[in-house]
Amino acid sequence: MSEELLQINGLRAGYGKVEVLRGIDLRVKRGEKVVILGPSGSGKSTLLKCIPYLVRPWSGEIRIDGLTVSPDPAVLRRIRANTGFVFQQYNLFPHMTIIRNVALPLELSKGMSRREAEETAKSVLDMLGLGELAGKYPLELSGGQQQRAAIARALAIDPKLLLLDEPTSALDPELRYEVVETLYQVAKQGRSMLIVTHELDFAEAAADRVVFIDEGQIVEEGDARQVLERPRRERTERFLRRLRSRLGESPSTN
Ligand SMILES: Nc1ncnc2c1ncn2[C@@H]1O[C@H](COP(=O)(O)OP(=O)(O)OP(=O)(O)O)[C@@H](O)[C@H]1O
Ligand SMILES: [Mg+2]
Repeated sequence: MSEELLQINGLRAGYGKVEVLRGIDLRVKRGEKVVILGPSGSGKSTLLKCIPYLVRPWSGEIRIDGLTVSPDPAVLRRIRANTGFVFQQYNLFPHMTIIRNVALPLELSKGMSRREAEETAKSVLDMLGLGELAGKYPLELSGGQQQRAAIARALAIDPKLLLLDEPTSALDPELRYEVVETLYQVAKQGRSMLIVTHELDFAEAAADRVVFIDEGQIVEEGDARQVLERPRRERTERFLRRLRSRLGESPSTN
């Protein structure tokens, strides 16, 4: 079994005639947590979406667990059964209870019976401290709770790779904390994670590697501490400085 779970080589993608990703090479090892940072419009969401083929790459190659992503329906089914996705907006189905939201992918992609799926869903909700919300509808929950339920849904299929696209950015600051706590909890379980987030404390404490993207290219990547505290590229430093001043943190002095 290869040490690398995700391999992206020379990925190019865009919309219409506009190229957004201009040659991305990225690796995620088994169990590794990789945080992606970058300015708005730099292509972070597009990169994540290419992995389960929600956006079709123009060229390049993406391999997950040895399987090359392609439009073949059988391949896509396997890729998506191995990939959990949490979007910036929680994307829960509003007409279904939380437990139905979490159980449904298990029925669809794992072929579980309704009962088996709901038992699994309940245990994942319990694990994340959301068991009491199982019978509620999304709109009865706070934004933070909805996003944690979305994380539970992505985890329930027991994906090899968890993709999270700015899971806290749609939330008010006071609700972010509980979602970040959930992310820490998930990170501790040893699952491979590729996370777009500007939660720098989380990146520093939980990520193995940080990748900084600008204008569709990787500008810098490396050990999380090194990139966040001693970036090598001026563009990374400028981005971090701006981000920290926006977050109202005192700029790093080292
Ligand atoms: N569905 C789409 N159709 C056309 N253009 C798109 C589409 N989605 C994204 N774009 C454009 O592609 C570029 C990259 O967008 P993307 O969402 O990947 O950036 P991002 O780094 O995730 O930004 P943000 O931090 O704001 O979420 C932007 O210029 C955006 O306007
Ligand atoms: Mg985005």
